[in-house]
Amino acid sequence: MNDNPRARAWLRLAAVYFAVGVTLGVVMGASGDHSLFPVHAHINLLGWVSMALFGLIGTAYPSVSVGRVACAQFWMHNVGVPVMLGALTLRLKGTEAAEPMIGVASIIVGLSALLFAWLVFTRIGGQSRSAQPAGQRRGAA
Ligand code: HEM
Ligand code: HEM
Repeated sequence: MNDNPRARAWLRLAAVYFAVGVTLGVVMGASGDHSLFPVHAHINLLGWVSMALFGLIGTAYPSVSVGRVACAQFWMHNVGVPVMLGALTLRLKGTEAAEPMIGVASIIVGLSALLFAWLVFTRIGGQSRSAQPAGQRRGAA
């Protein structure tokens, strides 16, 4: 059903983040050490939840997930999120030098969110629904 490679990539990445986020949640619960809870929360929310939504929205509205802006949004999110959460983990474990990296990576993730908002506003219209045959889709540049 899904011939949209970027939407499929989002859904697979979402599943990976879900597995990692839930595993960290179980480890936190079992160990009683909740110090990484902001990392767990954002693995689940910026990874599992946001990426699953990008994938589902890209499946329902393929024009949101194709083209150069969608490519930039994909890579900014996929570089920004792991760097931000890796640096946050180091920071929570005491490495203060990781703080600027959290800032830079969060800005990249924030910019990717702005690009996604732009895609939603400019690409989702009456003509771009997946119900329409692929050949007739507009705005899929
Ligand atoms: C088996 C699955 C999970 C386990 C065992 C688990 C466990 C935990 C634990 C132990 C905490 C720390 C609570 C605290 O110290 O205040 C936590 C916090 C949190 N978890 Fe999970 N979690 C799971 C799945 C999820 C999922 C799927 C999501 C989101 C989609 C999620 C979102 C959050 C959030 C947002 C927080 C922070 C809550 C706060 O601000 O206090 N968790 N979780
Ligand atoms: C660039 C993206 C993001 C940044 C920089 C960011 C930053 C933050 C910060 C600084 C906190 C407070 C942490 C604390 O006081 O310990 C926080 C908490 C929280 N954020 Fe985010 N956030 C981002 C994206 C998101 C998204 C997309 C969601 C939901 C879909 C989300 C949900 C939450 C929740 C539920 C909390 C409370 C749990 C916690 O403290 O970890 N955040 N976030």
